[in-house]
Amino acid sequence: MKKYYIGLSVTYHDSALAIIDDQGEVLFAEATERYLQNKRALNCEPDQLLRLPELLNQYCPSAETFVIAINWRKKRPLYEAAISALGFLSAPGLLKTGIKKLRSPLENYQLHHMMACQHSSIETAAINLVRIIQEYYPTCAIEFADYDHHLTHAATACYSSPFDEAACAVIDSFGENGAMAFYRYKNRKLECLHETKGLGTGSLGLCYMKITELCGFDWLKGEEWKVMGLAAYGKLNQEFYDALDAIITINGFDCKHPAKHLTENLAKLDRFKRRKDSPAEQAADIAYTGQLFFADTVTKLLRHLHFVSQCDNLALAGGCALNSSYNGQITGRVAFKNVHIPSAPADDGCALGAGWLAYHNDHPANPAPPKLLNPYSGSRIDADAVKRFIKFNRSLNIQHLPDSICDATAELLTQGRLIGWIQGRAEFGPRALGNRSILADPRHAAVQDHINEKIKFREMFRPFAPSVLHEYADEYFENYQESPYMDKTLRIREDMRERIAAVCHVDGTGRLQTVKKEWNPRFYDLIACFHQLTEIPMLLNTSFNVMGKPLIHTLEDALAVFLTTGLDVLVIDDYLISKPRDE
Ligand SMILES: [Fe+2]
Repeated sequence: MKKYYIGLSVTYHDSALAIIDDQGEVLFAEATERYLQNKRALNCEPDQLLRLPELLNQYCPSAETFVIAINWRKKRPLYEAAISALGFLSAPGLLKTGIKKLRSPLENYQLHHMMACQHSSIETAAINLVRIIQEYYPTCAIEFADYDHHLTHAATACYSSPFDEAACAVIDSFGENGAMAFYRYKNRKLECLHETKGLGTGSLGLCYMKITELCGFDWLKGEEWKVMGLAAYGKLNQEFYDALDAIITINGFDCKHPAKHLTENLAKLDRFKRRKDSPAEQAADIAYTGQLFFADTVTKLLRHLHFVSQCDNLALAGGCALNSSYNGQITGRVAFKNVHIPSAPADDGCALGAGWLAYHNDHPANPAPPKLLNPYSGSRIDADAVKRFIKFNRSLNIQHLPDSICDATAELLTQGRLIGWIQGRAEFGPRALGNRSILADPRHAAVQDHINEKIKFREMFRPFAPSVLHEYADEYFENYQESPYMDKTLRIREDMRERIAAVCHVDGTGRLQTVKKEWNPRFYDLIACFHQLTEIPMLLNTSFNVMGKPLIHTLEDALAVFLTTGLDVLVIDDYLISKPRDE
């Protein structure tokens, strides 16, 4: 009986769909934002009606049973659950008082938006999928499963890791009950060690959202990245640190705070908020201090987890695991020897977690050895679209270079060209890992301005990342550890910083991607060619998008960016495409 496990991430933001077969192999995983070209895909269902028939036909052609698994428990009334987790009023209290009267550190309209979207997302979860399965696979059985939100985060982290055994921390904004959960992972089983619960639960995710807001950025747009970038320019603001410290005090796995509800405490921080008309740089001390407080607090939690679990391996997930600045510090601050962060640690990754939980539920004695997840599980550029483009193109130069695409591209990179680089299947997770990337020569600091002025149009304080060949990474990074998904920020050795100025942040760090041949042979070969020409075993790698948009999804998306920005060259698999003025 051919059975497929379809995991859906159905929370109101970063929805995603994953397909796993009856061997536990990931056939497909992709966030909805890519297909819709709508950053974070707020309030958009993961099972988009128009694309489902094609997806199922491609990946589940011989299905006899579908298991649909979602990343939120349906049994608990969502409104009540979310409000409880946020530490506001109970649902009846909310109805009586009205949302405008809530004391919230977050803007009321945003809160209302979040609640309403989340409610409808859960209530309507999988409706499209069921309809399409019934229409196209009328004889197929359908089974349903819903899992604790934080358990799906943990499953994503653990099942995607190379570990047989690990301690697992999920540090999030909120789930059905609270904001954090801790697990022991062994023999493909997850045992919950502790879950924060109840009204007024402390939430580091909400706390970081508040810090983002204080810096003048928008957490709803996912601008927490900007806090990390800006932090490098700041210094300690002791008054702000003490104010944060008074709000969240860690004791074991528990958070304590003085007022009953976390949000009452967070509201006290408003005096530190950057004025809207002042430049972002004025919030650098708030960003630095907020990031430091976050790092100190998570360190306390992880030290306790290490003490309880007595395990050397850590699998980390939840929205807070996107904090690459901190991720790189973990092994230096806590006794864990190995740290794994999945390619999609936030809610998009939960689609995989939910699917995997359903799979393991059916296969409790899975003998498959653990392996690091290949993150290239998304869509391909449509081959027919490429053929049509080549046939009808009258304006761009196209060269087909199946044997020399890496040499040719590396040569252009050394000439200072900015290259859009598309290969194979798209990455699952927020980072471009060499299949949907914009690449540049990392040697000269001016390249940063170049990319910002010609393509990205983003703030100057945000750094660009290096993709480095694993064999040479130790020469460039202090206390080097593998960072396969660009998930860790490490210190660049002082004597190397000048050599790779474009990927060295102002504080001497770089958020690196480790590149190994077995993980991505084409990208490895390209960097190796560049290394041969320049003696630098790395490239500047930034996501193939423009500011405010997700990574490109179709050929048309790629051409739109190519033709409307200063991108010099576009590479799609073996095709090298350039603009006529460059002849
Ligand atoms: Fe989450």
